[in-house]
Amino acid sequence: METKRGLFIVIEGVDGSGKSTQADLLANYLRSLGRKVHHTMEPTESGLGGMVRDGLGGEHPRTSEELAAMFLADRVAHNVSPKSGIKQFLESGTDVVCDRYYYSSLAYQGVDGPFDWVADMNLKSPVIEKPDLCIFIDLDPKKCSERIHSGRSHFEIFEENEAMIAETRRRYGKVFEFLKDRENIAIIDGARTIEEVFEDIKKEIEKLR
Ligand code: ADP
Ligand code: TYD
Repeated sequence: METKRGLFIVIEGVDGSGKSTQADLLANYLRSLGRKVHHTMEPTESGLGGMVRDGLGGEHPRTSEELAAMFLADRVAHNVSPKSGIKQFLESGTDVVCDRYYYSSLAYQGVDGPFDWVADMNLKSPVIEKPDLCIFIDLDPKKCSERIHSGRSHFEIFEENEAMIAETRRRYGKVFEFLKDRENIAIIDGARTIEEVFEDIKKEIEKLR
């Protein structure tokens, strides 16, 4: 009997928008429906993911191009790893919920010049799976910043200030405009309670099932 392919759902948003909170809820919700779920994230927790995190941390600053290539390598490994790869999970009927994916590379590294290059590397790669749905949690940068400051003490280079978050949000807008005819993208208002945001996510999931 042919195994039905799992659903591949990505949660995106600027730092502090509520991605990991909603990804946790979504993974648990799908499990409660009796589905098998692999909850994962990018950068990954592998060696490559660790190198990328070092590049973000500020001690060894990298150019956008270097970061784009490093995130790409991490993403390729994330897809093709024989034991824990996204492809293998989907083909064996397991849903994959991923906190950030190539939309982040387009928004954070695809600044001006390299945008086409970053888009091509990710979207034309024969080994990078296309998600069934990308959920973007949209939230005002001021609220993101408030949430980040109340919950964390460590700041990465992209979390430095509200202006930067606002710029990233604007770039995500451009990315989704660019992808609108070829990808399934749901933009969800994150400025509500955790439960209210999740209700909208559930509605998007229902459309896929
Ligand atoms: P991200 O993964 O996008 O950085 P998190 O899910 O870690 O965001 O959320 C950032 C902080 O905001 C956490 O302290 C979290 O508990 C809180 N938070 C998440 N969603 C909401 C919400 N809808 N309303 C209020 N606080 C929230
Ligand atoms: P992380 O610690 O996972 O933060 P968050 O909870 O906000 O997701 O840090 C991930 C950082 O990596 C985040 O600032 C965005 C950045 N990033 C890129 O710049 N490009 C990418 O392709 C990905 C996946 C992440």
